[in-house]
Amino acid sequence: MRIASIGGGPAGLYFSILAKKMFPRAEITVYERNKPDDTFGFGVVFSDATMGNFAQADRESHQAITGSFAHWDDIDIQFKGRTLNSTGHGFSGMSRQGMLTILQDRCAQLGVDLRFQTEVKDLEQFDDYDLVLAADGVNSVVREKYAAQFGPHLDFRPNRFVWLGTDYEFPAFTFIFKENEHGLWRVHGYRYMAGYSTFILECTAETFKRSGLKVEDENATVAYVQELFNDDIKGHKILKNRSLWRQFPIITCDKWHYKNAVLMGDAVHTAHFSIGSGTKLAMEDSIALAEAVKRSPDDIPAALAAYEAARRPMVESIQRAARTSLEWFEQTERYYDHLEPIQFGFSLLTRSLRISHSNLKLRDPKYVASIDRWFAGQAANQSGVNVQADPPPPPMFTPFRLRDMVLANRVVMSPMCQYSAKDGTINDWHLVHIGSRAVGGAGLVMTEMTDISEEARITPGCAGIYKKEHVAAWQRVVRFVHENSYAKIGMQLAHAGRKGSTKLAWQGVDRPLDSGNWPIMAASPLPYLEGVSQIPREMTRKDMDKVRDDFVRSATMAEEAGFDVIELHLAHGYLLASFISPLTNQRKDDYGGSLENRMRFPLEVLDAVRKVWPKGKPISARISATDWAEGGVDAEESVRIAAMLKAHDLDIVDVSTGQTVAYEKPVFGRLFQTPYADRIRLEVGMPTMTVGAVSSYEDVNSILAAGRADLCVLARAHLYDPYWTRHAAYEQGYALPWPDPYASLVRYTPRHK
Ligand SMILES: Cc1cc2nc3c(=O)[nH]c(=O)nc-3n(C[C@H](O)[C@H](O)[C@H](O)COP(=O)(O)OP(=O)(O)OC[C@H]3O[C@@H](n4cnc5c(N)ncnc54)[C@H](O)[C@@H]3O)c2cc1C
Ligand SMILES: Cc1cc2nc3c(=O)[nH]c(=O)nc-3n(C[C@H](O)[C@H](O)[C@H](O)COP(=O)(O)O)c2cc1C
Repeated sequence: MRIASIGGGPAGLYFSILAKKMFPRAEITVYERNKPDDTFGFGVVFSDATMGNFAQADRESHQAITGSFAHWDDIDIQFKGRTLNSTGHGFSGMSRQGMLTILQDRCAQLGVDLRFQTEVKDLEQFDDYDLVLAADGVNSVVREKYAAQFGPHLDFRPNRFVWLGTDYEFPAFTFIFKENEHGLWRVHGYRYMAGYSTFILECTAETFKRSGLKVEDENATVAYVQELFNDDIKGHKILKNRSLWRQFPIITCDKWHYKNAVLMGDAVHTAHFSIGSGTKLAMEDSIALAEAVKRSPDDIPAALAAYEAARRPMVESIQRAARTSLEWFEQTERYYDHLEPIQFGFSLLTRSLRISHSNLKLRDPKYVASIDRWFAGQAANQSGVNVQADPPPPPMFTPFRLRDMVLANRVVMSPMCQYSAKDGTINDWHLVHIGSRAVGGAGLVMTEMTDISEEARITPGCAGIYKKEHVAAWQRVVRFVHENSYAKIGMQLAHAGRKGSTKLAWQGVDRPLDSGNWPIMAASPLPYLEGVSQIPREMTRKDMDKVRDDFVRSATMAEEAGFDVIELHLAHGYLLASFISPLTNQRKDDYGGSLENRMRFPLEVLDAVRKVWPKGKPISARISATDWAEGGVDAEESVRIAAMLKAHDLDIVDVSTGQTVAYEKPVFGRLFQTPYADRIRLEVGMPTMTVGAVSSYEDVNSILAAGRADLCVLARAHLYDPYWTRHAAYEQGYALPWPDPYASLVRYTPRHK
């Protein structure tokens, strides 16, 4: 077998070691354009968990690597004159040069042919090789030359960073946040060998510009950094080594292999340095590729396909976490300006959403107890309700106040259409659906989207609140919730707009009825599904008056039924949302064009409803913070939308996304909508609810403690498990009072296996 590696970094060298062990007679050549000891960067860092993989793959190099390690458990966060310390994290660091030397020596020992100072320009010379590794790093020539085959995507991020070193030994993995006249600087510092630390400095593009520093002027950089951080490194020296100011590229590729060639390491994917080293990913690629080749040495294209299939999901998951972490460092100013130091620290530690409140509790229970105590104190102040301080409850079991309504905890059952009403009148199904979730422990249960008129319904099965009998039916549900649980109950008020007059969800989502369609209307005469949906009529001012008055009538009825809170549905492309998004609003009058114009009618409805809704009761609005489509609402505009709603006395925004246009391209994932709630909460300074793939109590506690939202809204999790909140309480050893008829459960131990 003949194998060539273009590039002698961690990916190329480590694969060569593993392959030579598996196929001792293979001819393996590594081409490296640099000299053996000619490296950039300072230290590499690994988490304890990573090292287990390397021990299994090659004991010899693992021993040499771990023998050179500097190990530490602590993270120090220096922020506004304080140092917060958290322990139990388990990292090791070593010099990149030391690491490469170990891998080069091991290659030589096994008989790999190492050719330094040899630059490879293309793949043709390797046509008759069995396997060619394109392990040529972030600026991969192979990837770019064969771009049509690999489909690379390079996203250069706006922040600037520079890789420096220092002869100061940081006692822990250290983050420093420091402000000067140019802006806020972030330092990622860690020891990698006796007497030396890596010192990565990062800032926004604006701060970099204001500093007057030049990308390539290493001496000026060193002088600037030395002066600014002299005290933090106790007068030690800042060191350079090709220390240019870079922009981090997020690299992904549509395909990882072509004929006998395969991309590996930084050449095919990058993960921001704030989450862990690219070195780890590169070496794990080597392990996965070696295993795939071992399984089918006679069919290399099949091995390469198997390698990509096995490795891609893991890499993508790490890249998602890395992106979330990278975004935290792009937006650090927001957290720095708005969060108290203790919460800032928690937000930083949980930034990638991979380390949760529970993980952190295992690593450092004292730190998490201090966060929980602080959070409980904040909740007590905010709600005016006593909260036990010692031990404090988990964040999710703290109270929250909106006007006179005090929620017992932070869990909300999301509005979910049941399509089971008749003529808008709900029945026993709705009583049990909502009632059981209230008994199940949520602090707030929401009705499904409840329509303000007959023609405002999505389907003939949608619930309404526009007739006298509707009030009585809802009264029964409200009474049950109030009499049998501590939950509060809210009603989501809506008009379906252009998404109205369609079949029940299980008969065909968004499909018009086979017969009996009613006329629909919207901001503009655009059908939801081109060629399928009815074309809505463009609303006239008279239509707007009627819709506004219907909202007012329904709000009055909701008050009569006894609801604690109402939520206006300004999301998901329904009638009021169709005014907000430029994709669905093409009006030329005062209600179209600028955001001020597009918000005019929704705000008019909010004002009118606010007038009749009791002063002591809050109003929420659900918005789509992005349309996930070009030219639509985006995160930035959603901040302005929320600010306008706040100026019109809205109490809380329920931050959802999308469903505005059928051609949207949403990026789903765990907590995928939370960053929008986080941004609005801090930039607008108003309470938010987050919804969307929030499913574990760890997520809820992490979101709350980090200040990403005030309430967590769960939809499908509640369909699956009406007692979700009770189960979360049990898992956390937190005693939730049971309703009297269930009191015998106090001594009962549930078993699920
Ligand atoms: C400036 C900088 C500093 C860094 N410092 C650190 C650090 O301190 N710690 C850390 O963990 N990570 C660091 N990284 C990231 C880390 O280097 C990579 O994630 C990791 O090395 C990826 O391994 P790799 O083998 O895929 O690529 P690389 O390590 O980049 O190796 C690729 C190799 O291919 C060689 N090469 C490229 N083109 C050719 C060619 N045409 N012919 C022959 N040879 C070629 C290059 O010289 C290089 O040695 C740094 C990255 C940069 C850009
Ligand atoms: C069956 C079902 C019905 C829904 N009906 C509504 C609704 O009436 N109003 C609304 O704003 N969102 C509705 N949604 C969206 C949910 O409220 C929620 O935003 C979405 O499911 C994401 O949350 P999850 O990941 O916790 O399920 C519905 C979702 C489901 C699964």
